[in-house]
Amino acid sequence: MAVRPILKMGTPSLFEKSKPWPLNKFGSPELQRLLTDMRETMIAANGAGLAAPQIGENVRVVIFEVGDNPRYPGREKIPFTVLINPVLTPLGAERAEDWEGCLSVPGLRGKVSRFARLRYTGFDAHGKPIDRTVDRFHARVVQHEVDHLDGVLYPMRMSDMTQLGFTEVLFPDLAGVDDD
Ligand code: NI
Repeated sequence: MAVRPILKMGTPSLFEKSKPWPLNKFGSPELQRLLTDMRETMIAANGAGLAAPQIGENVRVVIFEVGDNPRYPGREKIPFTVLINPVLTPLGAERAEDWEGCLSVPGLRGKVSRFARLRYTGFDAHGKPIDRTVDRFHARVVQHEVDHLDGVLYPMRMSDMTQLGFTEVLFPDLAGVDDD
C-alpha cells in the first residue's frame, strides 16, 4: 500500500492504449494492491478520479469518487466506484461543456465538451457486473477517466485552446488546492 507518483503529461505511456484486466485475475491480491495504491494516491492528491495508467500501469482500471472535494466544489457527489474493463454508451447526442482538471496535467483547467448522458458497464474488483446510467458531472468524470485508458488526456478533447488556462488565474479560489 502506497501513494504512488502520478505520471505527468509528456510521459509516453500516458498516450498508450491500455490492456483489458485479465478475467482470471479478478479478486486477486495483485488487483487489490493496485486498487489500494490507486485509492491512496487519488485521496492524497484530492482527485475526483484516477486511471491506472496515471501510476504507470497500462491496464483498463479506473476509480472515482466525489465527496466534498476542494478541487471541485459544488459538484454532485459520486459514490466510490471501481470500474474495470469499462464500456461507455452515450445516450442521445446532447453534449455539455464544463471545466476539467487532471492530476496528470497539474495546475491547469480546460473547458471540455462531453456527452451529457451515458450508460456505463464494466466490473468491480470481484468481477461483479456494474451497469449504470448517469448524467452531469458523473458522466463527465467517467468519460475523462476512461479516456485515460485510450491514451487521451483532456486537452486533446478541446476545440478552443483559449479555454485552457492556469487554475490560479481562472479560479483564484482554488489556488493552492491543485498540486504544483
Ligand atoms: Ni485525468
